Amino acid sequence: MQSTSTTPAEQPQSTGTGHRSSGVHVPKTGLREMLGALLALGGMRRDMLTGLTQQHERYGPVVAQRGSKGRFVHLFGADANRFVLLDRERIFSARLPWMGIMGEIFPNGLLLLDGDRHARDRRVMHAPFTRQALRGYLDRMNVMIDRTLARQSSRPTRVRMFPFLKRLTLEVAADIFLGVELGPDVTRMNQAFERMVAASMSRMRVRLPGFEFHRGLRGRRFMQQFLRERLEDRRSGAGTDLFSRLCQARDADGQPLGDQAILDHMTFLMMAAHDTTTSTLTSLSFELGRSRDWQDRLRSESLALREPVADIDAIEKLQSMTWTMRETLRRYPPLPVIPRIATQDFEWDGFALSAGTMVVISPIHTHHMETYWTDPFRFDPERFGPGRAEDSVHSHSWIPFGGGSHVCLGKRFAELQVHAILHQLLLRFELIADEDYDMPVQQAPISKPTDGLPMELRPLS
Ligand code: HEM
Repeated sequence: MQSTSTTPAEQPQSTGTGHRSSGVHVPKTGLREMLGALLALGGMRRDMLTGLTQQHERYGPVVAQRGSKGRFVHLFGADANRFVLLDRERIFSARLPWMGIMGEIFPNGLLLLDGDRHARDRRVMHAPFTRQALRGYLDRMNVMIDRTLARQSSRPTRVRMFPFLKRLTLEVAADIFLGVELGPDVTRMNQAFERMVAASMSRMRVRLPGFEFHRGLRGRRFMQQFLRERLEDRRSGAGTDLFSRLCQARDADGQPLGDQAILDHMTFLMMAAHDTTTSTLTSLSFELGRSRDWQDRLRSESLALREPVADIDAIEKLQSMTWTMRETLRRYPPLPVIPRIATQDFEWDGFALSAGTMVVISPIHTHHMETYWTDPFRFDPERFGPGRAEDSVHSHSWIPFGGGSHVCLGKRFAELQVHAILHQLLLRFELIADEDYDMPVQQAPISKPTDGLPMELRPLS
């Protein structure tokens, strides 16, 4: 294991673990790698997994690196994931790193809160995600999916799957989350979200017209205005969309969330739901396009339901589809890395790290470690089947939805939406990728194909 000069964040302290003596520093990626990373920043975005694997192989389970947002420390492996996500010693803040990344665009979203405020708002926000609420959303979702797919041509069509699915998930989200049919507003809202997400990842935070960050702030204003105009109506009505349910929800003292809190949570929820689900459905389409056996198997399973649309009970019977979704989330976790900032000094694996350290755990890396997965680069949904259950080797080896107090609030919603869309898609179309096509993936900030994933949708007779 290599080490370089010590910085205050790495001053060795007595570790008490025995196997690492004091005097061991957190290994840093060397100058050559740093220069390489700088020159290939775009490359790292695209192929984060290779970069992380090389760091882990070369330097071990704890590695310091300098990035565009300053210095950070990677902790590799499922034990590290559990330590950071469960955070039993209350060391880590999710708010601090996420505020640095998206705080000006999505302030006070649930992930950008810590401690008591987070716990209180999260409890209230469970109300729109009960099984009964989800059942209602799914019924509405099914109607919309049916309507959208029915509009597709009855002849084979080439489609770029990412924008196609993105539009569909946004239309669904607008109806279910906001209780509105977007109509011509769909393009505006799509654009607003795209700009907000781009701005939150923007390195140049320039608030002048023409700059990415400025466009993101305008997107936020559009979204907040759109919600504010409907707030009073949702508070007083008895609607069953997510916005209405959030307005009606009460905390343990019977108090509702305040106006601004609702607007901020809704803006964040729409973003959290939209890009992640689109990313998952796109990666799924790619894998099913090149693995025709699995596509046929999933279609047969859907046909066996004898239901053109699937409700919650039917979805729970789609077992192969569930494994395939899990395998896709293993290979292409929409959030490849998860950041935290330490609020106190701590020790991990014999290394002493100080308060203020940005700590990064990597679902994408753990999901490809041979310690936990057989032939990890192979697309093999059966690894999630009861015979093998590779995901149960460790509680934190499969973490596409995070874990601990910030575990994804929309996990069940996402699972239902992906199943509902895929069920209808497979009953209507064959998904065909070009021969020898390999999807060029950009892994950060959200995993997605850089070419939009061109495919043919061939209607089934
Ligand atoms: C396949 C789709 C999805 C994936 C892979 C995903 C992934 C994640 C991950 C990894 C986190 C934790 C981030 C961290 O700890 O720093 C998270 C948090 C969150 N997600 Fe999702 N998500 C998905 C869909 C959704 C949907 C559909 C919704 C809303 C309906 C949603 C709402 C949230 C919220 C509110 C949080 C913050 C929870 C908290 O801080 O307590 N997500 N998601």
